[in-house]
Amino acid sequence: MADDCAIALGQSHLNLYQRIAEDLATAIANGEHVPGERVPSVRELARRLGVSISTVTQAYGLLVDRGVLEARPQSGYYVGLRARASAPEPSKSRPAVQPMPVSTSALTLEVLAGAGDPGLINLGNAVAAPDLLPTASINRCLMSVIREMPELSAVYDAPFGRPELRAQVVRLAHGAGVRAAPEEVLITGGCQEGVTLCLRALARPGDTIAVESPTFFGTLQAIESLGMHALEIPTHPRTGICLDALEQALAQWPIRACVVMPTNANPVGSCMELAERQKLVELLARHEIPLIEDDACGDLGFAPGPRPPACKAWDRDGGVLLCSSFSKTLGPGYRLGWIAAGRFAERVRHLKQMSSFAPAPLQQVAIARFLARGSYDRHLARARAGYAQRSARVAAAVAQHFPAGTRVAQPAGGTVLWVELPEGLDTLTLYRRAHEARISFAPGALFTAQKRYRNALRLYTAPRFDERMDTALRTLGLLAQQMQDEAVA
Ligand SMILES: Cc1ncc(COP(=O)(O)O)c(C=O)c1O
Repeated sequence: MADDCAIALGQSHLNLYQRIAEDLATAIANGEHVPGERVPSVRELARRLGVSISTVTQAYGLLVDRGVLEARPQSGYYVGLRARASAPEPSKSRPAVQPMPVSTSALTLEVLAGAGDPGLINLGNAVAAPDLLPTASINRCLMSVIREMPELSAVYDAPFGRPELRAQVVRLAHGAGVRAAPEEVLITGGCQEGVTLCLRALARPGDTIAVESPTFFGTLQAIESLGMHALEIPTHPRTGICLDALEQALAQWPIRACVVMPTNANPVGSCMELAERQKLVELLARHEIPLIEDDACGDLGFAPGPRPPACKAWDRDGGVLLCSSFSKTLGPGYRLGWIAAGRFAERVRHLKQMSSFAPAPLQQVAIARFLARGSYDRHLARARAGYAQRSARVAAAVAQHFPAGTRVAQPAGGTVLWVELPEGLDTLTLYRRAHEARISFAPGALFTAQKRYRNALRLYTAPRFDERMDTALRTLGLLAQQMQDEAVA
């Protein structure tokens, strides 16, 4: 590594130690260090980079977790012998930039239904890991609420959400750099409902909605159910939506709204640079196009420390509708989310009231109590570290078990991993074969309105990485290799 360890400033969402780790991983992937080779000692690298010993120790620790390096006691760190270096990352996507009707819901429902089968090893999920949720603490809050407010389920409660929960949401939003007033906050039945309500408030059937490509299948389902069209914008798996392409699309098409996941996007795990966030907000404001910011995974960044500010932090005219939920952080079963809808708050509130009268109160009060205790940040720090480590283990297993030519995204956070198999391998066929082997995953076709990502799949990384998981990934890799061999035969 010459200037070798030159730190890619572009990756500013990463911490210093992660950037050092990424640079070394890239150097290894590029063949600059071969398996079994000793890498510079911690002290030597710290001296060369002018950083602390603990920063390099953390970087090496991350690479050991990913299987890229091996630590040999009394000897130092070596490039892993078994691990083919971490797989290269996918390139920026190149969808056709034109509005298209969406018809993914049948396949999505089939995959979701299949994933519910308890006999399957489910690598198609994106939910939080049960062992990384504070369920016992929240259960205690629920019990106290039931004891103290037994009448709460006997009424249609506050139509826009309980004041104590809205106050906590205001506090959480502040942590994402957003100053929202409690009256701007609307409690929803999850982020999916939030995004759907925003789409309904902003656009009509036939209207065009710009989205990242690939994008979360739930967003495509919402667009499909509302008879709108998706306009997919090229997206980089690490830095997110390409603003040049979006700007061109804005000039060419009558876009009504834009749905973007700037932080830890599902499925690719991208995280936009801070300057790009500001540019995105300003670009859309200039065109008077509202931005629906899906922040469902925003609190699950792998890097320790504060999360990046949401795009809404740069919102000057109320044009950003920030949607999030507690599904990934506290548990999906509470079905609680929220929207800070800026200048559209009134319209979104009306739609919410007309569609479900009021959000369920018991769990709102319980979650508000849990948040008021102040242990959320501690819980989150533990969960984020767990997800980072588990994601790295899955990425290393994919690099090891999947056919040569496989590309693996480098998510900045979240619970999923985007994988692209060599061109020509069809993951819908792989999906059916894997099903026979009792393994499920989310095929790439779910994440686009176009005929794209047929060689891609999304894997679930949140569960504790164990023998069963490793075997399932090895089996998937073998099935993919078989398909590859059949294609050449
Ligand atoms: C990006 C994104 N948005 C929205 C959702 C839906 O979240 P909720 O369960 O809060 O409705 C998910 C869930 O996986 C997600 O990943």
